Amino acid sequence: MTLKNPTLKTPISVPDPASYLISLKKAGRPVLAVVSRRVASLYPRLAGALEKGGIRVIAWTDGEENKTYASKRKLEAELIKAGADRGSLVAAAGGGTLLDLAGFTAATLFRGMKWVSVPTTLLAMADASIGGKTGINIKEGKNLVGAFHFPEEVAVWLPFLASLPKKEMTNGLAECLKHGLIADEDHYLEVLNADPGDMKVMESVIRRSQEIKLDIVRKDPFDESGERNILNFGHTIGHGLEKLSGYRRPHGESVIAGMAWETAASLVEGCCSKPAFRQIRNALSEFAGVPRIDGRGMERLWGHLRLDKKNREGEVRYAPLREAGSPALPTPYLAPLRFEVLEESYRLLVEG
Ligand SMILES: NC(=O)c1ccc[n+]([C@@H]2O[C@H](COP(=O)([O-])OP(=O)(O)OC[C@H]3O[C@@H](n4cnc5c(N)ncnc54)[C@H](O)[C@@H]3O)[C@@H](O)[C@H]2O)c1
Repeated sequence: MTLKNPTLKTPISVPDPASYLISLKKAGRPVLAVVSRRVASLYPRLAGALEKGGIRVIAWTDGEENKTYASKRKLEAELIKAGADRGSLVAAAGGGTLLDLAGFTAATLFRGMKWVSVPTTLLAMADASIGGKTGINIKEGKNLVGAFHFPEEVAVWLPFLASLPKKEMTNGLAECLKHGLIADEDHYLEVLNADPGDMKVMESVIRRSQEIKLDIVRKDPFDESGERNILNFGHTIGHGLEKLSGYRRPHGESVIAGMAWETAASLVEGCCSKPAFRQIRNALSEFAGVPRIDGRGMERLWGHLRLDKKNREGEVRYAPLREAGSPALPTPYLAPLRFEVLEESYRLLVEG
């Protein structure tokens, strides 16, 4: 399993993640599995089968608060203790936080180890496992330290979704809706109507989301040309709303509300039509409601937006949308967002 150009590789579906990893080991690669502690406890047969197949399992506590230098340092020590060397393959199984942490550890330990990604949340399957970004959070901000380190393979086992809490499902659906809104109206409609309990539907949703993200990443693997900026649609205001709520409003709901609000801003700026805005606003508000913000809240939200990572020369920026499936601007997609537009678009968002 050698990859000439890892960015071109499409994720695979595996009938059983343990057998898949054991087959890699049998093919001659020493495999060390870093498995989300929660996933290991929900799927005890997974760790059992891996150990039986001769694969060392390192159970790891995942979650945003563990995507840190301290956790990375501990993982380096655990991998070395478990016998890792430069030729070992790190197999990371978990949500986006664990994949980011284990991928980044693999990027730097022994100056770079190969790794495979086994996403276990919808968000990780449809989004975080694609695109080669790995990293950790620091006090100054999320994902500020990291590396591009493409996994050798992304292996998806759909039944992991069965144990996912509703909030985590919504987090994933938010990104799938985004993929549809920025690139494919049919996909957007498919996600809107998807029953998350229907595995056939979810398989199709995940596959299409992966394709869309891969298409974008292939154009700009190392995030240099601005092609990947469109993946931030909804996230300028979405992140602001998440911060404004003191992280009580879940990430997925914040992003969904952010996408509706940024579509309203696109209408105010004259690049989205009223019917297109209304359809998107009404459909997304069924998922995530409409945030209630007073004048003081708006000022505080603006304060958060002024610290957004995409800002340049003091300008807050967002990716306007023309209609479902199509961005309003060519690459690099971003336009300035003014405070008056934020206020005016909020009024439209509330009125519908
Ligand atoms: N690298 C990228 O390109 C990229 C893209 C998008 C997001 N991300 C990152 O992904 C992270 C979010 O990922 P996430 O939403 O998967 O969060 P997460 O990794 O925190 O997982 C969410 C929760 O679900 C649990 N979990 C995992 N699999 C489960 C399963 N099968 N059943 C039940 N519970 C399960 C986890 O223990 C955790 O409590 C963020 O840190 C974000 O920065 C990275």
